[in-house]
Amino acid sequence: LSTLTGHSGKGSQHARRGGRAAAARHDNPGWANLYDWRPVDRRDAAPLSHQVYLQVRAAILSRGLTGGSRLPSSRVLASTLGVARMSVVAAYEQLLAEGYVTARTGSGTFVSAELPEDIIDRGAARRRRRPAPAAVPDQPSYADARPFNMGRTLLDGRSAATWRRLMRQAARWPGPQDTGYSDASGFPILRDAICRYLQAARAVRCEPDQIIITAGTQHATDIATRVLLRPGDPVWIEDPGYPLTRDMLAAAGMRLCPVAVDEHGLQVAAGLRTAHRARAAFVTPSHQYPLGVVMSMARRLELLAWARDHDAWIIEDDFASEFRYSGRPLASLQGLDDGDRVVYVGTFNKALFPGLRLGYMVAPWPLQRAFVAARCLMDRQPPSLIQSVVAEFLCQGHFSSHIRRMRQQYRAQRDALADGLARHAGGLVGVDRPDQGMHLVAGLRAGIRDLAVERAAGAGGLVARALSRTYVTARPQQGLMLGFSGYPAHVIGPAAMRLAKIIRASAGG
Ligand SMILES: Cc1ncc(COP(=O)(O)O)c(C=O)c1O
Repeated sequence: LSTLTGHSGKGSQHARRGGRAAAARHDNPGWANLYDWRPVDRRDAAPLSHQVYLQVRAAILSRGLTGGSRLPSSRVLASTLGVARMSVVAAYEQLLAEGYVTARTGSGTFVSAELPEDIIDRGAARRRRRPAPAAVPDQPSYADARPFNMGRTLLDGRSAATWRRLMRQAARWPGPQDTGYSDASGFPILRDAICRYLQAARAVRCEPDQIIITAGTQHATDIATRVLLRPGDPVWIEDPGYPLTRDMLAAAGMRLCPVAVDEHGLQVAAGLRTAHRARAAFVTPSHQYPLGVVMSMARRLELLAWARDHDAWIIEDDFASEFRYSGRPLASLQGLDDGDRVVYVGTFNKALFPGLRLGYMVAPWPLQRAFVAARCLMDRQPPSLIQSVVAEFLCQGHFSSHIRRMRQQYRAQRDALADGLARHAGGLVGVDRPDQGMHLVAGLRAGIRDLAVERAAGAGGLVARALSRTYVTARPQQGLMLGFSGYPAHVIGPAAMRLAKIIRASAGG
């Protein structure tokens, strides 16, 4: 399996890359060369070597340079300070004699790892002391790699090899698009490829200039919110719904109007009853988050009619449309819109991997310039290297074959999880086998509390998010949201057995 799995032997390379080993390998990146060294003062009566000594000592005592840092070579520091090299050598010798630095033959002079406590500037250390950590988060972290966290993906060996090759090619020599600023809406070649993909796969009605490259869904919904809404505006959100959309809107000062979801999707009539003057609706019509229901055609038409009649906006989050396992996909909501009311949002952070941070939005023509301007003010432009690689990945046909292969793999993983739970916790859970997406919902038998199972699972090395957390005002269902996309079937089998045991224990049996 891939190098990006994070739990197989090979996969842990990925975790290490961003982690401790990297820090250990690069514990001397030469920061002391960048320290704010000041030229010596030739009017000062103190000898130059003593001035150098005082300056280096002050850097150490204030912890500007920490233990283990390599000091600049005497030649480099002499030239920086405008003194003869002998002055620096004399200063280093005095620091050595007093224990501030150590010398390693052939590799240089280093700040001592252990300085006597009594010479450290305690006041400075106290001033820099970190604030106590915020209250411990009471829900699983999105960064948790243990089964069955949500939103994680796999890359199979073929895609990983292709990715590496394209990265090497793109990085070989930065071109003009890397060494200067580029179009804030993204590379034309990438926008063109996305446009053709969306037209073919999602029946989105668009032209390349309507596509704006973002860092992902979160970024796109933020752009739409800043441009279209003002603090205090009422907005419809799905109930239950995606917590990060809800929290982003709350942080932007919007008035949240939760609208219940049933087996046909958002209950537009309920929204009309409670808040028909809302300015926008944030929805996941092709695969409702978290329940997985598809918004029916009747509801889509009702929603579009509401937006048209009330001059409201619809933000369509099409986050996992690539992974469809059976049945025909319903085309995008945007494709039905002939009133320029729908902002379509898509992401590569699910179709490829979340660490990528690349997605896109399709702006209705009247909003296109304002969205690009907002994107530019927030973050100038998308990263050029990643854009080049993803554009090649798409244009050379690797994306479509990646999706085809991952559909098969994810379907097998979904089945391994659903079968495992049915076999070992049958009667206690009602497992929904979704046609699409990257997680399933396991409903819990009456009397079993999802928050209790979530807690017990966490203690048992598993991540089982409580469904009830995703509700705002609707009556919460008790269930578990279990991600299957990030874990190969051979990991899912035993983990499902462990989870079933935890559920049985929570049920008191
Ligand atoms: C409903 C929903 N939308 C979008 C995303 C993807 O977000 P992003 O592209 O910001 O990583 C997720 C990821 O978990 C999601 O659950």
